[in-house]
Amino acid sequence: MLFPDYRPRRLRQNESFRRMIRETTLSVNNLIYPMFVVFGNGIRRPITSMPGVFQLSIDELIKEAKEVQALNIPAVILFGIPDRKDDKASGAYDSNGIIQKAMRALKEKVPGLLVIGDICLCEYMSHGHCGIIQGHEVDNDATLELLARTALSQAKAGADMVAPSDMMDGRVAEIRQALDENGYQNLPIMAYSAKYASAFYGPFREAAESAPQFGDRKTYQMDPANVREAIREVALDVEEGADIIMVKPALPYLDVISRVREEFDLPLAAYNVSGEYSMIKAAGQMGWIDEEKVVMESLLAIRRAGADLILTYFAKDVAARLSK
Ligand code: PBG
Repeated sequence: MLFPDYRPRRLRQNESFRRMIRETTLSVNNLIYPMFVVFGNGIRRPITSMPGVFQLSIDELIKEAKEVQALNIPAVILFGIPDRKDDKASGAYDSNGIIQKAMRALKEKVPGLLVIGDICLCEYMSHGHCGIIQGHEVDNDATLELLARTALSQAKAGADMVAPSDMMDGRVAEIRQALDENGYQNLPIMAYSAKYASAFYGPFREAAESAPQFGDRKTYQMDPANVREAIREVALDVEEGADIIMVKPALPYLDVISRVREEFDLPLAAYNVSGEYSMIKAAGQMGWIDEEKVVMESLLAIRRAGADLILTYFAKDVAARLSK
């Protein structure tokens, strides 16, 4: 059917028609809010490059998590900043580490809010890399055991789900096995399956104090040029037992989200990362774009590409808007 018989504008003439034929929706159920936790008391330290995002001590984390729950956001993901770093990432799997303490506190004070633990070693390593360093290389297999140990210690602290973001080969299987052997068969894994070596993580590295002290992450995170490889990466994680798969970043990688959605049936998450957040915030503050509208459009686009879940620093703002 062609013009003038077909006139697409007929069904665009008012909001009621538009509402009826809308193909994609954004709901609070799709949102996961990332939070940064530090030792201390009464700390609410702004992250300069991410206006509206803070490093929080556990007492402040509890307050903010209660707000998150009141907004009906189902889950938060936690990143920890330890008080000391070393070359074994001891702080990552210490039963009194920052994340373990934060999880116990959240489970006690904000029951019902799902708590996801990011599993990575970079925040806890003196050199800022995501694994054990041998010479100048990140040693994949030596790192696996520490990742599994970290996942297990978070499970013991009450994590509702663990999310490995390190990009070591074989880590999902290693973590699954460690969890199963210790009675955590029901603890799901959300795997950062196709995680790219992206400059969009810049502001996060300020927030999590996790910038690598030498080199970059290109030997373990994916090359931004590749999409077929993303399918192989996701296939490995599915095979190894991932319950939810993830593409990261989100907006510059909508094609990857879409390809992964077509190939796999598992729930799919996308991480709307720090650089995506900061760019919108900055342009909004300059008055160059309408922040609120650009945020809603961006998250809708991530959903349209095929993501079920979106990890986003905008989660609280969006949840508040959706409930109006
Ligand atoms: C840890 C990790 C990173 C992010 C999430 N987990 C940074 C990195 O890989 O360097 C980035 C999140 C963001 O930019 O919002 N490995």
